[in-house]
Amino acid sequence: MVECETIHVLLIEDDFASAEIVKGLVGEESRTFKLEWLSHLQAGLDRLAGGGIDLVLLDFGLPDSEGLETFQRTHEHSPGVAIIPLTATGDEALALRAIQLGAQDYLFKGSINRQLLVRSMRYAVERKRGEEALRRAHDELEQRVKERTAELSAANDLLTEQIVERRRAEEELRRLSHRLVEVQEIERRNIARELHDEVGQVLTGLKLVIEMATRLPVEQVNDQCQKAQLLVNELMGRVRDLSLDLRPAMLDDLGLLHALLWHLERYSSQTGVRVTLAHTGVENQRLKSEIETAAYRIVQEALTNVARHAGVDEVKVNVSADAENLFVQVTDQGRGFDPQGALSAGESSGLAGMRERAQLLGGKLIINSAAGEGTSVNALLPLEE
Ligand SMILES: Nc1ncnc2c1ncn2[C@@H]1O[C@H](COP(=O)(O)OP(=O)(O)O)[C@@H](O)[C@H]1O
Ligand SMILES: [Mg+2]
Repeated sequence: MVECETIHVLLIEDDFASAEIVKGLVGEESRTFKLEWLSHLQAGLDRLAGGGIDLVLLDFGLPDSEGLETFQRTHEHSPGVAIIPLTATGDEALALRAIQLGAQDYLFKGSINRQLLVRSMRYAVERKRGEEALRRAHDELEQRVKERTAELSAANDLLTEQIVERRRAEEELRRLSHRLVEVQEIERRNIARELHDEVGQVLTGLKLVIEMATRLPVEQVNDQCQKAQLLVNELMGRVRDLSLDLRPAMLDDLGLLHALLWHLERYSSQTGVRVTLAHTGVENQRLKSEIETAAYRIVQEALTNVARHAGVDEVKVNVSADAENLFVQVTDQGRGFDPQGALSAGESSGLAGMRERAQLLGGKLIINSAAGEGTSVNALLPLEE
């Protein structure tokens, strides 16, 4: 405690003589203590409400309050102010009870002297301050514990959310893998059919031509050989087309851009739809094989849809890569459609296939289209998962 600090003391005491004694003793220490005196508890409480009091010297037997209750009311009213009960000599039990309830000290009226009073008042104020500091520290700690608990609980909620989200993602991945197998099976069926219908037919024709050649007179065999040669040429063409549809060797050998350039040329000559290709960031680099394949297939399917459904003779393709993503976009100004409807109708295998390819690589496919508004198919494929 700083020596020169003034301690404001409120004496609540109805006995005139006792009050005079205390006033006299405190008056000798007027540099340190300022004393105010009131004789009723209510007046004392009103004064305390005004603030500025550090310490109450409290007589327990007042005209408007008696015994321990006097202390309790004062303490409840001003819990931050130090209280020294003034009790009748011999009433030790009452004084101790007051200490237990929060009084800082007690004095027996009959045996007060100056030294005792001053020391008791100093210590009471000091002890009260210590208690208050401790209480504040405790409150702060409590508050921090509460905050930390709330933080932990929030973190826990987040973690739970992430676990749920992750389960959902795993579930989705399983579903997609399953779909992928289905899609592969469908592709195989198509190849089988094409082999049977297209290649098989020509082979049957060739067989017939050769069989006939064995039965024809020698001078007609030459003609028959020419027929066979035409069929073989056709066969070679069909097999090459089929093989290219399955997987252009270029995609493996030269990468996405070259495979696309080659495909666009073939597409334009087969469909009559002109293609404008813009590209950035993919010229001199190879991406992961599954990303190149997905991008190629998505462009291929989107272009097929343009030729089949959009009713246009022009389409734009954009392929660009930065450090994180490969972005492909196929845009036409054609008749457009309702992508949500088409996808949820459950019949679309082309659109769903594109979306699944993108999702399997952790990317996404966004189709912007509406009747009469053209169509834009956008796929974003992350380069690193
Ligand atoms: N570029 C487009 N322009 C107009 N309609 C389209 C386009 N792409 C897709 N569609 C519509 O979406 C439907 C579903 O497409 P898709 O799943 O590829 O199936 P498919 O091409 O076999 O019909 C098509 O039947 C068509 O009506
Ligand atoms: Mg299609």
